Amino acid sequence: MRDGAEPAGRRSVHPLAGPGAHLLVSGGAGFIGSCFVREVLGRRDGTRITVLDKLTYAGSEANLAAIRADPEQAGRFRFVRGDIANPADVDPLVETTDAVVNFAAESHVDRSILDPEAFLTTGVIGVHVLLEACRRATERAREGARSAPRYLQVSTDEVYGSVEQGRSWEGDPLAPRSPYSAAKAAGDMLVRSYVATYGLDALVTRGANTYGPHQHPEKLIPLFVTNAIDDQPLPLYGDGLQRRDWLHVADHAGAIEFVLRHGASGEIYNIPGSAEMTNRDVVTVLLERLGKPWSLVRTVADRPGHDRRYAMDGGKLAALGWQNRMPFEAGIAETVDWFRANEGWWRAIRSGDWDDYYARQYGARLAASTQAD
Ligand code: NAD
Ligand code: TYD
Repeated sequence: MRDGAEPAGRRSVHPLAGPGAHLLVSGGAGFIGSCFVREVLGRRDGTRITVLDKLTYAGSEANLAAIRADPEQAGRFRFVRGDIANPADVDPLVETTDAVVNFAAESHVDRSILDPEAFLTTGVIGVHVLLEACRRATERAREGARSAPRYLQVSTDEVYGSVEQGRSWEGDPLAPRSPYSAAKAAGDMLVRSYVATYGLDALVTRGANTYGPHQHPEKLIPLFVTNAIDDQPLPLYGDGLQRRDWLHVADHAGAIEFVLRHGASGEIYNIPGSAEMTNRDVVTVLLERLGKPWSLVRTVADRPGHDRRYAMDGGKLAALGWQNRMPFEAGIAETVDWFRANEGWWRAIRSGDWDDYYARQYGARLAASTQAD
C-alpha cells in the first residue's frame, strides 16, 4: 500500500461509479454506515446495496427504516443479519458484489477498555475474513469469471495515536494507544498486506471524530445532549481540554463514497473534520443550543490512556477533489434538534443493557465527581 501523496491531477473513476453497481456494506445498520446507505440509495442512480450487520448493541434496523418506507429504494436494498468474522455469512455475499465497504467494528474506546475481546474479533478476524473472500473473488476475476471487487476499509484517525503538535498524514507511522485503535490499526495493516501480496483492489479511509443524527448515545456529543435533556450530570473526563476535529456524518459518508469511486487502489485517504475544538468548547456549544446550564457538567476521573489530540492533514483527499460541506455550527444545531425530536429512538437504546454499561463506566466516577469550573 502506498502511503504518500498521489501525483497531482490524477483522478480516475472506478467502473463501479456506473448505475447498477452492487455494494456490500458491512456494519450498515450503525451510525455512519446507515448514513452511507441512506445517502447512496437516496440518489436513485440504480445502485443496489446489501447490508451485512450483526446487530450488536450498537446496530439497529431502525436506522434503515426510511429505506424500507420507500418502495423504489427498498427494491434496491437487502438486509442480512450476520457476522463479518464468520466466513459462512460473508463468502456468499462477496461472490456477487462489485465492492465491499466495511464499517463493521466495535467502535467505542471506553468499552474497549472495559472489554477488549470483541474489538479484536471484529477488527482483526472480521477484516481478515472479508479480505479472504475478496482475494478469492479477485482470483476468479483473473480467470475471467467476473470483475474483481473493490474493498474499502473504514478506519480512523485514532490509529495515529495522540498528536500533540502538527497534523498526521497518510505516511505517518501508526501509534494506537487504546484496544479500539490498536484493533483498527491491525485492520489497516491487513489491508496493506493484501494489496502488496495478492494485488487486491483495496483502499483505506481514516475519518475524524464524527457526529450527527443516529449516533449511539455512548459517544460524547449524543451522551451529553441526551443527559442534558433529562437534566442528568454530564461526565467530563479530566480537564476537558482534549482536542478533537469534528466531522459531520454526512460529510464522512460522502467522502467515503467519493474515495470508493475516485480513489486509487492501494491508497490511504485521511478524512479530516471541519472544526478542531476542546471538549469543553463542544459542551459549551451543546448547552447553549439546549438552553441548559453549565452546572450540569461534572469533572470525573479521566479515561486511561486518553489521547490528548487528534488532527489530520487532508491535502490528499482535497487534491482528489473532495470538500466537506457542513460547517460545525450548522451541523451541531441540526444534531441537537434531531435528538430533541427523536426521543423515542434514543430512549429505546438507553434501556436494557444500557443501565449496566452506564453503572460500570460512570457509577464510581460520578460518585467521586466535582462540579466542573
Ligand atoms: P457503530 O458502533 O455505530 O456501528 C457499528 C456497526 O457495526 C453496528 O451496526 C454493529 O451492529 C455492526 N457490527 C459490529 N460488529 C460486527 C460484526 N462482527 N459483524 C457485522 N456487523 C458488526 O459505529 P460507527 O460510529 O458508525 O463507526 C463505523 C466505522 O467507522 C467503524 O469502523 C469505526 O471504527 C469507524 N470510525 C468511526 C468514527 C466515529 O467517530 N464514530 C470516526 C472514524 C472512524
Ligand atoms: P468519544 O465520543 O468517546 O470519541 P473518541 O474517544 O473516539 O474521541 O469521546 C470524545 C471526547 O470526549 C474524548 O476526548 C473523550 C471525551 N469524553 C468525555 O469527556 N466524557 C464522556 O463521557 C465521553 C463518552 C467522552
